[in-house]
Amino acid sequence: MRIAYLNGEFLPLEQARISPLDRGFLFGDGIYEVIPSYDGQFVGFAPHIARLNQGLHAIGIELNFSDEQWREICAQLCEQNGQGNLGIYIQVSRGADTSRGHAFPQGIRPTVFVFTFDIAAAPIADKQKVKGFKVISQQDLRWQRCHIKSTSLLGNVLHYQTGKDAQVDETILFNDKQELTEASSCNLFIVKDGVVITPPLDHQKLPGISRMLLLHALSYDASIKVEERAVTLQEAREADEIWLTSSSKEVAPVVELDGQPVGTGSVGDMWLKAQTLFSQHKFEL
Ligand code: PDD
Repeated sequence: MRIAYLNGEFLPLEQARISPLDRGFLFGDGIYEVIPSYDGQFVGFAPHIARLNQGLHAIGIELNFSDEQWREICAQLCEQNGQGNLGIYIQVSRGADTSRGHAFPQGIRPTVFVFTFDIAAAPIADKQKVKGFKVISQQDLRWQRCHIKSTSLLGNVLHYQTGKDAQVDETILFNDKQELTEASSCNLFIVKDGVVITPPLDHQKLPGISRMLLLHALSYDASIKVEERAVTLQEAREADEIWLTSSSKEVAPVVELDGQPVGTGSVGDMWLKAQTLFSQHKFEL
C-alpha cells in the first residue's frame, strides 16, 4: 500500500482526496517538483526545494515550509514506502475556493500533496547498457514562463505526445530563431569538437537540477570545456553528441534526431565521461 502526504496527514494514496474546486485541478494553478531518492539518499534535495520556493514565490503562493520540514516529510514518505528507488512528487496548488473565478481567492490554504512512485535504478555509465534515445524536433509552442515549474503542463504534454506518436522517446524544441530551448521534459546539451554546450537559462526553459548537477560534475575535469550559449537546431544536426538531462534520466545520450544519426549514430565517449562524473558527484549539492 502506497502512503502519501496530504495537507499534514500521512495516509494511503487511494484514500487521499481533494476538492474538485482545487485550483490545481481547475486552472493548473500550482507548482511541482520531482526528486529522486536512492535508498533514502536524495539527489539535489536543496536545489529542488529552492526551485520549489522560487516557483511558489513567482506565482504568489505563500507557504512557509522550512527545508527541514520538507526533508522530514520526504524522508518519512520514503521510509513508509519501503525505500529502494523512488521518485518523490511534490505538488503545491493555490488551494480550493467555494466557486470558480480567475482571481486569486483571499484566505484559502494551499493544497500540499506528496507521494512516491517507483523509478528505475540509478543510470550507470556503461555504453553497452545505456539506452540510446531517439528524438524529433518541433517548434516550441509553450508559454513564455517555462522557467516556472508549473503544473500547467499541457504544452509539454502535447509536445511529448507528438514524439510518442512518431515512435521516438522525446521531442526537442526550438524557438522562432531556430535556437534550441529544451525538450518537452528534459534539458539539452550538445557536444561539438570536444566542447560541451548547453543553452543558457532564461524564461524559455526550466532551470533543471540535473543540468545544474551535470555542470557541477563536469567542472571536476579541467580538460572538459563547457559553454553556455545559444545552440541552433542546425548545430544540433551537426553535433557529435546530444544529451538530455532530467531527474529520472540523469544524462541520456541521443543517437537519432529527426530520423538522422547523431554523430556516428552510437553512444559517444563524452557521454561516458559525463555520466561517470555525474554518478560520482550527484549527491554533493
Ligand atoms: N521533468 N525541462 C522540463 C520541461 C522538465 O519537465 C524537466 C523535468 C526538466 C529537467 O529538470 P530536472 O533536471 O530538474 O528534473 C527540464 C520532470 C522530471 C517531470 O516533469 O517529470
